[in-house]
Amino acid sequence: MRQLLLLAGLLAAAGGREVWMQYNPGWNGSSVNLLHVRAVGPNDTLHYIWSSIGAPAVLLVVTEGTSSALHVNWTQLLSPTPDGAIRIEPAGSVVYSTAVVFTKVFEYSKANVQEEVFYPTYDLSDFSWDSVNRTLNHTALTAEFVGGPATDPSGSFSNGSLAFRVTAYETSGRDETLPSLLHTANSSKVEFVLAGAAPRGNSSWFALEVATVEEAGVVQRLRLARSIDDEYTPTIFETFSLVAESRNDSSTLSFLQWKATAYGSQAPKREDSIQCHSGSLKAANWTLPRSSIVLAYFGEGVGSTYTISAVNISFGGEDGNIYEEKRYLSWSALLGFGQPPKDTFSPLVISIMAVALGTPMVLLVVGSCVVLFAQGKRYTEYEPIN
Ligand SMILES: *[C@@H]1O[C@H](CO)[C@@H](O)[C@H](O)[C@H]1NC(C)=O
Ligand SMILES: *[C@@H]1O[C@H](CO)[C@@H](O)[C@H](O)[C@H]1NC(C)=O
Ligand SMILES: *[C@@H]1O[C@H](CO)[C@@H](O)[C@H](O)[C@H]1NC(C)=O
Ligand SMILES: *[C@@H]1O[C@H](CO)[C@@H](O)[C@H](O)[C@H]1NC(C)=O
Ligand SMILES: *[C@@H]1O[C@H](CO)[C@@H](O)[C@H](O)[C@H]1NC(C)=O
Ligand SMILES: *[C@@H]1O[C@H](CO)[C@@H](O)[C@H](O)[C@H]1NC(C)=O
Ligand SMILES: *[C@@H]1O[C@H](CO)[C@@H](O)[C@H](O)[C@H]1NC(C)=O
Ligand SMILES: *[C@@H]1O[C@H](CO)[C@@H](O)[C@H](O)[C@H]1NC(C)=O
Ligand SMILES: *[C@@H]1O[C@H](CO)[C@@H](O)[C@H](O)[C@H]1NC(C)=O
Ligand SMILES: *[C@@H]1O[C@H](CO)[C@@H](O)[C@H](O)[C@H]1NC(C)=O
Ligand SMILES: *[C@@H]1O[C@H](CO)[C@@H](O)[C@H](O)[C@H]1NC(C)=O
Repeated sequence: MRQLLLLAGLLAAAGGREVWMQYNPGWNGSSVNLLHVRAVGPNDTLHYIWSSIGAPAVLLVVTEGTSSALHVNWTQLLSPTPDGAIRIEPAGSVVYSTAVVFTKVFEYSKANVQEEVFYPTYDLSDFSWDSVNRTLNHTALTAEFVGGPATDPSGSFSNGSLAFRVTAYETSGRDETLPSLLHTANSSKVEFVLAGAAPRGNSSWFALEVATVEEAGVVQRLRLARSIDDEYTPTIFETFSLVAESRNDSSTLSFLQWKATAYGSQAPKREDSIQCHSGSLKAANWTLPRSSIVLAYFGEGVGSTYTISAVNISFGGEDGNIYEEKRYLSWSALLGFGQPPKDTFSPLVISIMAVALGTPMVLLVVGSCVVLFAQGKRYTEYEPIN
């Protein structure tokens, strides 16, 4: 106990959090998955509630104080009317709530530049999922939701699976594996992995549709930051952040951040990168498929007092057919509370620039890193990255 307290103290001093993971709290079964990640800081608590009941989704609830707790009424949650089945107590301690829902996976071929041929959509709320309990690692703070279509007439998933891998963090740092995302203790990572599924076309592209739920008074924006090449994610120049901003004071409340790349390998290397494109943000009146945990927490107000936005993230490029060849696709995103981490130039790049340009020039360049705002319909097409 003393050691635990000491550890908590050390973590807090370092801007960290103490993190616990709990599977299906308050229920004995494993036919459905709910993973509660509780991250306690010096005087606030972040609750991440991941679930594959309905479409795979995560709720992020931020509370004041260090003693807020999750309450799940399982009878109600597994009923057709789950509204109110998930609560955080005390209710008055909640300062902010949001949700991210992974709704659909699209597969299409580009017959030519103009024409896209779509195959039947994979609706993720119709998938069946393995028990997450077996994959839980309380040391590494990781867990994995692995599933496939409940009915698979084309047989594409007979050797394949789709997975959402979750990682929670106690401190700030940078992932060792590509795309080397920078994280803080206020964030968690989700990795979308399509492995072994047979493409239904000759040169299939895949797209993941992601929806977010925000309270009234919060506006979502899709931002694109361009940077120069660096050693952390070689050849990748773009980082997207889907941020939730308070409408009255423009403060950033939460974010979903990703680099414009996916990888075609379990041990990703630079040459395995698969181009990742982002569609425009479909704001405000997107309709959400039934996702039980979102309904269970937000209630019927979803769609009236809450706004739902969605974006398509597509994988594929002119660089050939990495998925067809490797049968593996992995894309990572960071979800968190507050400001998204901002990458600075790596020490190597700065030192190269310092030699090439001289130090004063470098300070000027570093200080004026360009941030482009990509919002709404203005933002539809990107030039391919060379
Ligand atoms: C869990 O389920 C098993 C078998 O169904 C039962 O024996 C056990 O009492 C249950 N435990 C709790 C805590 O409900
Ligand atoms: C989860 O796994 C642990 C240990 O592996 C086991 O004790 C527990 O009963 C499992 N929980 C459920 C709900 O299956
Ligand atoms: C949270 O902690 C900080 C410093 O530890 C303190 O300044 C602040 O007043 C605290 N906030 C609350 C709501 O207790
Ligand atoms: C759980 O929900 C059911 C159905 O709505 C209700 O009858 C029951 O009283 C609830 N249980 C608790 C502990 O609130
Ligand atoms: C959990 O993760 C740790 C650290 O990454 C690793 O050493 C350990 O083998 C993992 N445990 C299991 C059961 O996979
Ligand atoms: C599944 O794998 C087996 C053995 O590796 C192979 O024979 C079969 O063709 C594969 N099926 C599909 C649909 O890819
Ligand atoms: C994490 O959240 C806490 C509490 O809201 C805040 O004080 C801290 O600055 C945040 N840390 C980072 C790295 O954003
Ligand atoms: C795939 O390519 C082959 C040979 O190029 C062609 O015959 C076939 O019609 C293509 N299939 C589809 C679904 O485009
Ligand atoms: C901003 O909006 C929140 C509710 O979302 C409200 O409580 C707060 O008073 C507002 N702040 C200002 C400065 O208007
Ligand atoms: C919803 O979107 C449609 C088309 O994008 C638009 O015509 C309609 O006015 C929108 N409704 C609301 C309530 O914003
Ligand atoms: C994603 O793409 C599919 C297929 O083109 C389209 O039906 C859907 O509306 C798109 N969703 C968003 C949020 O743009």
